[in-house]
Amino acid sequence: MSNYKFLAKDYEALNPKEVIFKQDNFFKDIIDRYSIKTCLDCSCGTGWHLSMLDELGLKCYGSDLSPEMLQ
Ligand SMILES: C[S@@+](CC[C@H](N)C(=O)[O-])C[C@H]1O[C@@H](n2cnc3c(N)ncnc32)[C@H](O)[C@@H]1O
Repeated sequence: MSNYKFLAKDYEALNPKEVIFKQDNFFKDIIDRYSIKTCLDCSCGTGWHLSMLDELGLKCYGSDLSPEMLQ
């Protein structure tokens, strides 16, 4: 059983959108350097990285073991 089943409720407060989106310049450099068009986040959790990458223009896909995190 994943610990994220129990962490999911508080995960958002610990890793809010505002913190994740501050990483956008780091990812933009990589996207531009390698002409990346799509991404798959195989542990997307609450999905804020996918949301940020979507805003940067990538076609995004995600999956996660924890239904609680996805919800
Ligand atoms: C740090 S969190 C997610 C971070 C995510 N990129 C974000 O933007 O919030 C790590 C995630 O890995 C998932 N995970 C752990 N083991 C996994 C596995 N074997 N397969 C898929 N997901 C897994 C957890 O459920 C959890 O949601």
